[in-house]
Amino acid sequence: MKILVINGPNINLLGRREPGIYGNRSYGDLCSMIREHAREKDVDVEIFQSNHEGALVDKLQETDADGIVINPAAYTHTSIAILDALKAIGIPAVEVHISDVNGREDFRKISYVRPACIDSVIGCGLEGYLKAMDILTEKVNR
Ligand code: DQA
Repeated sequence: MKILVINGPNINLLGRREPGIYGNRSYGDLCSMIREHAREKDVDVEIFQSNHEGALVDKLQETDADGIVINPAAYTHTSIAILDALKAIGIPAVEVHISDVNGREDFRKISYVRPACIDSVIGCGLEGYLKAMDILTEKVNR
């Protein structure tokens, strides 16, 4: 099984970016956690981050993964293009948000991508990515 973990804008700035909201751990730390978890679960993982909406759409169209963990970041709240890409490829996807988007500004409560996802993991910090990987491995192995 192969999982694609795909992150949108500013996730590369983890650790520097609003640490009161997103914590002190870096994007590199997140990638290490994901790779370690994949090893433990015996799954292949590819990790991708871009600040550009079209690059995220291109990556979704190109992937041969069996499951997708996606944190579209700010594009969550705006991107019909990412919603349509997820619907078009039809690969099971789990939406992740590091912070509790439901407890922040009203605009963060809206997710355009959620209708194309089998589940959402919200407000669990970086560990949310590992939970999302578990949801996908359980679904594919069932
Ligand atoms: C985020 C929440 C979004 O509202 C924000 O734009 C992000 C990160 C999160 O992981 O909590 O960049 O997706």
